[in-house]
Amino acid sequence: MSIIALTLFLFAVGTEPTLIWRSSSQFRKNVAPLLAPGDIDWEECIPVVDNVECGRIVVPKDYFNADAGIATIALARYKAKKFPRKGSVFLNFGGPGNAGSQFAITDGVQMAKRIGDDWDLVGFDPRGIGNTSPATHCFPSALASDVFFANTVIEQGFSVSSISNLSSPLLYDELVEQYRQFLALKETQAELCRKSMGDELRYMGTATVVRDIDFMSQVIEGEDEKINYFGWSYGSIIGAYLVNMLPNRIGYTIIDGIVDPILWSNELSYKWSINSISDVEKTYKMFLEDCSKAGSSLCPLAKYKGEPWQNLERRFEEFFDATARKPIPIPFGNRPGFLTSGGARVYLEKFIGQPALWPEAAKIYASAMAGNATRLYDLIVDALPLVHPVPHSWKRDLAYMAVVCLDSPRPTSPDVFPTAEDLTELGLKALREVSPHFGLSMTQNTRFSGCQYWPVDGPERFTGPWNATLERKMLIVSNTADPTTPKSSGLLINSLMPNSSVIIIQDGPGHTSSALPSLCTVKLQREYFAGNIPKNGTVCAVDVATFPDEKDEAALQMLSIEDLELMEALRAGMAQVRFGY
Ligand SMILES: *[C@@H]1O[C@H](CO)[C@@H](O)[C@H](O)[C@H]1NC(C)=O
Ligand SMILES: *[C@@H]1O[C@H](CO)[C@@H](O)[C@H](O)[C@H]1NC(C)=O
Ligand SMILES: *[C@@H]1O[C@H](CO)[C@@H](O)[C@H](O)[C@H]1NC(C)=O
Ligand SMILES: *[C@@H]1O[C@H](CO)[C@@H](O)[C@H](O)[C@H]1NC(C)=O
Ligand SMILES: *[C@@H]1O[C@H](CO)[C@@H](O)[C@H](O)[C@H]1NC(C)=O
Repeated sequence: MSIIALTLFLFAVGTEPTLIWRSSSQFRKNVAPLLAPGDIDWEECIPVVDNVECGRIVVPKDYFNADAGIATIALARYKAKKFPRKGSVFLNFGGPGNAGSQFAITDGVQMAKRIGDDWDLVGFDPRGIGNTSPATHCFPSALASDVFFANTVIEQGFSVSSISNLSSPLLYDELVEQYRQFLALKETQAELCRKSMGDELRYMGTATVVRDIDFMSQVIEGEDEKINYFGWSYGSIIGAYLVNMLPNRIGYTIIDGIVDPILWSNELSYKWSINSISDVEKTYKMFLEDCSKAGSSLCPLAKYKGEPWQNLERRFEEFFDATARKPIPIPFGNRPGFLTSGGARVYLEKFIGQPALWPEAAKIYASAMAGNATRLYDLIVDALPLVHPVPHSWKRDLAYMAVVCLDSPRPTSPDVFPTAEDLTELGLKALREVSPHFGLSMTQNTRFSGCQYWPVDGPERFTGPWNATLERKMLIVSNTADPTTPKSSGLLINSLMPNSSVIIIQDGPGHTSSALPSLCTVKLQREYFAGNIPKNGTVCAVDVATFPDEKDEAALQMLSIEDLELMEALRAGMAQVRFGY
């Protein structure tokens, strides 16, 4: 299968998951009530998945107050095929909001190739998410949520008339209006959550998730066995918390696509994105350069092979400016509506993090620039963010906040709440100092904001220190050009734990090392789980072109059978697009 076919699969699937894991009670035959913390059961998944078991485990809802009752965590595990088995590796692939049980189901096979056949790979839905209960449910229905977000700045992104003059006072006036609407939406959202969930919202923070992993590991593997973990993106936050909260419990740990944990736990969340986008311009330039090199047959945004990439950049800006002056009517999209400049930019930023989708992105934007923006619009309004295991996308917005607002310090007094003017200043700073193209265009901009209205605090908030000593070094993986989790954050954790971590760098674009296959990276990860820690600072090349032609495909066929198999697994994993965190 070619990369394109695999990645198209995801677009085709859209929000319609091919495989739905119904909540446990719907399919269990002999429902033995699970009541007490530590109760666990495993059964076949519905539909049955080869070598995967689905399960649930009861945990204390609040580790500091037994009276709070219980929570039930949804699990799925891809079982070890080689014996002796070495134990369980807990997986988290980001979000917050991604259901890890689904990940173990869809990606277990390829993850076993990365980690080794002798481990059980355990995906779990973190607090508030997926089939774990209580789940974050703030809106009375999916429809209510859709209607609430339709045509708002949260759905359509922030628009400016042009970025050609970033000192123009026009930008300030344009943005302040949008931020006023944005703050009202955020306050409404938080009030809904307060009303429908109340105190149930208190248990979704990362510190609680870490206690769950410890608890689950003790139940599944035994009290004396160490915790093993592999997390991507926001999963790196869980990893950083885990090793620093419970250093003596840690066995093997890999984190990949690193979020800065100091910022995450100590800085007001609406200020995070400036740091997170520090490599986005670098990645965008790679996209434009690779497109130019590929030429119009592989990348229709280029007029000819070798066209200066600045021409492509200029045409994008002309398109964004024209769309800001006149939003594009979309009568025949999945929902009738209009495309805004802000929406078109947000989606470009998402694509930049997924180089495997660059050929597809080029087609979608070339079509929009040529007058048909229907496909682009459908992606923006229907599948944001585009992660197929999540049946209803907007729920993630709130699951995300349920985690972020418990992890970060919250401004608690209304006189220090950020105003629309404050957010505008910050947005302009991001445009002027960090990323003129995408300073305002991260989905994170909208997700990181609004915690001032959040109704609750958690039982525990971890804020460091971040320099734990581990028996076995943690492996950190960063890309040279990751638009949402910059290399600097990986180096930061590595520098805080110089004797307890090693970092490897994947020299390529994209969000996490899974974004583009590198046999070197994946072999080092597998060796790590086999007990061999890579040399600190190892740099790995990627093995797949961003706009592959027949020659590139043929070159892959020259790989050894083993490598080819691994490559196929990586490409299958790549199809699991991970947008944003
Ligand atoms: C940009 O806007 C500022 C403020 O209005 C103005 O002084 C400056 O001349 C403009 N620059 C360009 C290149 O148009
Ligand atoms: C525009 O693109 C959509 C989706 O790709 C397609 O279904 C539709 O036929 C196109 N419309 C026109 C007028 O070409
Ligand atoms: C870890 O960091 C804390 C806080 O920054 C500091 O007080 C402590 O001395 C550090 N511990 C080690 C082992 O470096
Ligand atoms: C790391 O190990 C070196 C050599 O053993 C030691 O000198 C140094 O103090 C250690 N650093 C930390 C932060 O533990
Ligand atoms: C590990 O490698 C990174 C990246 O090259 C480097 O910044 C760091 O200083 C190295 N750490 C040690 C302890 O040598």
